[in-house]
Amino acid sequence: MASKVPVVTFNNGKSIPVLGLGTWKSKPGEVTQAVKDAIDIGYRHIDCAYVYGNEKEVGEALTAKINEGVVKREDLFITSKLWNTFHRPDLVRDALLKTLENLNLKYLDLYLIHWPQAYKEGGDLFPEDASGKIQFSDVDYVDTWKALEPLQKEGLVKSLGVSNFNSKQLTRLLESATIKPVTNQVECHPYLNQSRLKAFCEERDIVITAYSPLGSPDRPWAKPDEPQLLEDPKLKAVAERLGKTVAQILIRYQIDSGNIVIPKSVNKSRIASNFQVLDFKLSREDLDLINSFDCNGRFVPMTASLGHKDHPFENDEF
Ligand code: A2P
Repeated sequence: MASKVPVVTFNNGKSIPVLGLGTWKSKPGEVTQAVKDAIDIGYRHIDCAYVYGNEKEVGEALTAKINEGVVKREDLFITSKLWNTFHRPDLVRDALLKTLENLNLKYLDLYLIHWPQAYKEGGDLFPEDASGKIQFSDVDYVDTWKALEPLQKEGLVKSLGVSNFNSKQLTRLLESATIKPVTNQVECHPYLNQSRLKAFCEERDIVITAYSPLGSPDRPWAKPDEPQLLEDPKLKAVAERLGKTVAQILIRYQIDSGNIVIPKSVNKSRIASNFQVLDFKLSREDLDLINSFDCNGRFVPMTASLGHKDHPFENDEF
């Protein structure tokens, strides 16, 4: 059964459902059921990554739903991401093959460079030195991209993109790329609406995919005194006025801004209610109001690799 979700067409002519299920922080013991529930509810787009440590369990759900005849492979849109320790060109193909093996798929719909900054190859995914500091690699993400391009030609992946790239890094990439990235997946929500990066990407026909659209309250480094997007009184007022949940407003905010959105949940009723966003639209006035809540509020600053030459969020870059 094909998707009921509207699609966005990429710069390469392929299309992606605007709403997908996020799987960052979904525990291996919970994610199989969550993905099965999501597919039953109507989701056709699942956002994965090698570093989430749960691809095998996502794959079990995909295989089960394909075998049950609920969906065909070609009805699904599956994304994954190349982790920082596999940026060296000679490691890229095997990293993709490992992800395909985990997911039990022959091809991905979309493969992203997860972060521009490379980490020391060959060991832990977060390779710390004795003092607990992440060890970096100086591999250039442009060389990583050049190693990805043949994998699309080979048919292992239908589209290529990036994640967490700033505008300068995208500019550098575009200067050498023969295949243009289709998306830049970045943190995006009312506290960090990415208006400058969005305009930059739009001019280049690169669509924004919004991660942490609900403010990722389950991020491991969250502190109790930090603001909670889902509890914001101004957003609650909008939600009440429209008879929706705050999460539905946050998801619709992305869709009506022209972004792709991937809210994460492992709870069947929340997976279902997050999908109930296709029968309403936010007005221009409400979008402007929600845009005015921006406060450069980044929930995923990737402090572990601050100081890396390719860290995307230093020096006030956008
Ligand atoms: P759970 O998985 O238990 O539903 P983000 O997508 O921004 O990373 O946010 C994910 C977090 O938001 C998770 O903690 C998830 O919890 C929670 N969440 C997902 N959907 C909803 C919802 N509709 N209402 C409240 N919290 C939600």
